[in-house]
Amino acid sequence: MQWIKIFPDEAVARTRIQNDKPQLVVIGEKRICLVVHNNQFFAVQDRCTHNGDSLSKGHINYLGEVICPWHNYRFSLQTGRESSSRSADLISYPVKINEDGFFIGIF
Ligand code: FES
Repeated sequence: MQWIKIFPDEAVARTRIQNDKPQLVVIGEKRICLVVHNNQFFAVQDRCTHNGDSLSKGHINYLGEVICPWHNYRFSLQTGRESSSRSADLISYPVKINEDGFFIGIF
């Protein structure tokens, strides 16, 4: 796994990523949907496993699911699983915050 620095520190990350407002992050060829929910960061693949829409254009519900804007499939930010198992799980990427910055782990 390769850790990619996205922000210089957590404070900057929190000013850039607002609660429950999914944000697209592009790292090389990977498109990642970065979310803060209940003060916790989650990074999942941006491409919906149903038909490929961009999850960062969707929204987050109170259950901590990202809802695809196209057909409203709901994916857990914790597990990447679709709520009714209608399509494949999302890939989840680890987030690491330390004194060197804010990182997403790419594999
Ligand atoms: S493309 Fe995401 S639910 Fe259909």
